[in-house]
Amino acid sequence: MPDAEAHPEEIRRSGASLRAAGVSRSFEGVQALRGVTLELHRHEVVGLIGPNGAGKSTLVNVLTGFDFPDAGSVELEGRDVTRWRPDRRGRNGLARTFQHSRSFRGLSVRENVEVAALGAGASPRKARRQADELLESLYLGSYADAPAGSLPHGDERRLGVARALATFPRFVLMDEPAAGLPESEVPAFAEVVRSVRDEHDAGVLLIDHNMALIMEVCDRIQVLDQGTTLAEGTPNEVRANIDVVAAYLGESAVPVEPTG
Ligand SMILES: Nc1ncnc2c1ncn2[C@@H]1O[C@H](COP(=O)(O)OP(=O)(O)OP(=O)(O)O)[C@@H](O)[C@H]1O
Ligand SMILES: [Mg+2]
Repeated sequence: MPDAEAHPEEIRRSGASLRAAGVSRSFEGVQALRGVTLELHRHEVVGLIGPNGAGKSTLVNVLTGFDFPDAGSVELEGRDVTRWRPDRRGRNGLARTFQHSRSFRGLSVRENVEVAALGAGASPRKARRQADELLESLYLGSYADAPAGSLPHGDERRLGVARALATFPRFVLMDEPAAGLPESEVPAFAEVVRSVRDEHDAGVLLIDHNMALIMEVCDRIQVLDQGTTLAEGTPNEVRANIDVVAAYLGESAVPVEPTG
């Protein structure tokens, strides 16, 4: 695959991207998104940040087909997928993790990943091998036979990532994957996010309220507030953007760490 070898700039030009263009969505009078455009390329980590209710999860839902926009479109590698169901987008390289666990608690950790691989078309043998490789690389190997419901929180988050990676995605959207992680486990999780970009050759959209994590792993950051893009740029550019500070000083300020 030339793609895997290509320089990021070439990938950009080749249209290997996931793109929301001018997306709007409202719910019973709440305008959650107002003409938002966001682009995610392979081999980059893009942070999507903003206060509670900014529209981040709504945008992920629209990008993945769990919701549909009132206006605007979604393109996956040059194809208009705006009306595609989630499973069809999944078969075409798009995967996500959920803000709340969607693991099968009664199945073993390994079976959870196997199910995801089988759903993406792997044979049972291949699904088993893939599951073991992914669990090993995400430091979950020793839990393979344990019920998923018994996993400590941080490990459960990595299982969500393993399930997403089992479909060989080219784009992975993570909705607050580090929420509730003890501070001591955040660096290891940052390493997992980087490995999705560098070893699995995927583009990552990362939503999180932990600014230290966002600033550390993201190549670019886009800031949403009240359904519109407030700022975008490199971590340093965004950090310096006074509008961002103003938004955070507003009543629904983004906590750097959960304040309880
Ligand atoms: N299914 C829905 N029905 C009604 N309102 C909704 C629905 N989904 C989202 N909203 C509203 O749309 C706005 C954006 O919500 P969204 O969940 O996208 O925000 P968010 O940026 O993900 O916030 P958080 O950081 O709290 O997860 C909010 O006002 C929310 O209440
Ligand atoms: Mg959300």
